[in-house]
Amino acid sequence: MWYNLYMNERTVAPNLQTMEQKLDQSLRPKDWDGFFGQTMVKKNVHILIEAAQKRGETLDHILLYGPPGLGKTTLANIIACKMNTNLKITSGPSIERAGDLAAILTNLRAGDLLFIDEIHRLGRAVEEVLYPALEDYALDIVIGKGPSARNIRLKLPRFTALGATTRLDLLASPLRDRFGAVFRLEFYSAIELQQIVTRSANILKIPLEPDGAMEIAVRSRGTARIANRLLKRARDFAQVRANGIITKAVTEEALALLNIDSLGLDDLDRQVLFSIIHKFGGGPVGLETVAASVNEESNTIMDVVEPYLLQLGFLGRTPRGRVVTSHAYRHLGLTVPDGAQQPALFEADKES
Ligand SMILES: Nc1ncnc2c1ncn2[C@@H]1O[C@H](COP(=O)(O)OP(=O)(O)OP(=O)(O)O)[C@@H](O)[C@H]1O
Ligand SMILES: [Mg+2]
Repeated sequence: MWYNLYMNERTVAPNLQTMEQKLDQSLRPKDWDGFFGQTMVKKNVHILIEAAQKRGETLDHILLYGPPGLGKTTLANIIACKMNTNLKITSGPSIERAGDLAAILTNLRAGDLLFIDEIHRLGRAVEEVLYPALEDYALDIVIGKGPSARNIRLKLPRFTALGATTRLDLLASPLRDRFGAVFRLEFYSAIELQQIVTRSANILKIPLEPDGAMEIAVRSRGTARIANRLLKRARDFAQVRANGIITKAVTEEALALLNIDSLGLDDLDRQVLFSIIHKFGGGPVGLETVAASVNEESNTIMDVVEPYLLQLGFLGRTPRGRVVTSHAYRHLGLTVPDGAQQPALFEADKES
């Protein structure tokens, strides 16, 4: 089957994968009525938009943060649509030099929405250009070299920057401070994910039963993109091994075949947990060390493994590193050792 070619891509990775662009486009809600959950963000963005429209002004700069696949790009599209403006999309890693950003900025028109994905990956020199642009709608450029060099300041149109990042902690605070509104996207609840896959199944004309939708939802790691992907895997399975209808049983079988368990954990999550348990006595241990022990990039562990394990209460944060909690031992079918951390201890910690 075609996706065998891509088997090295993780089924429960929240990032966009090779063959998914088209699917992502067709399922991306274009208006609020298809955009489920994220109630706080939605309400606040609504107010920002209405207020800006009442005053006839451009929107304040907005920063969205949270794990991948929760709807940052989707929100950018909806905001542009509601503000009736152009959406220009770029990303931190693709703006290599200060001159690249200057070119983007000078091409903006008044009111445009400039979406900068992975904004934490902008280089220092590029960031320096962004500061006056965000604050004063100005572009400072140096003309000439040596003693005859002159600084000139160009006026930019009033635009709105929409920054997105998975790692707020890596964002320089002067950059963060230039955004008038900062919102965190939350993992979706099972009910919200059930609504999301039900909507997607309607669009793709896939027969999906409510309990099948719920089973996909609970295994989607709180992530909209993963829910849509698991829906496709369940459809394939239903067409080949069942009568095409996605029921709870079909979903369970399809996902078991992919080694995705009842909570959406896959091999990598289990490797991380087992590594902390067997090699580091259950922790505390630094995530860098864990990453090395499972042969993964530490960024992958931090962006796409850890947030969900923390959310489940399977990992706890301590000043000396991560610890595996009693919940995780039980889920993995292991005896809980004496003195294992209780997840409740970390509730307060999650908020900070
Ligand atoms: N609130 C939502 N309601 C319905 N579908 C959603 C919602 N949020 C996201 N989706 C779906 O999930 C997919 C991924 O969303 P999106 O691309 O906006 O995530 P992202 O946060 O930009 O991810 P990345 O960090 O990888 O850029 C979209 O194609 C869309 O179909
Ligand atoms: Mg995106």
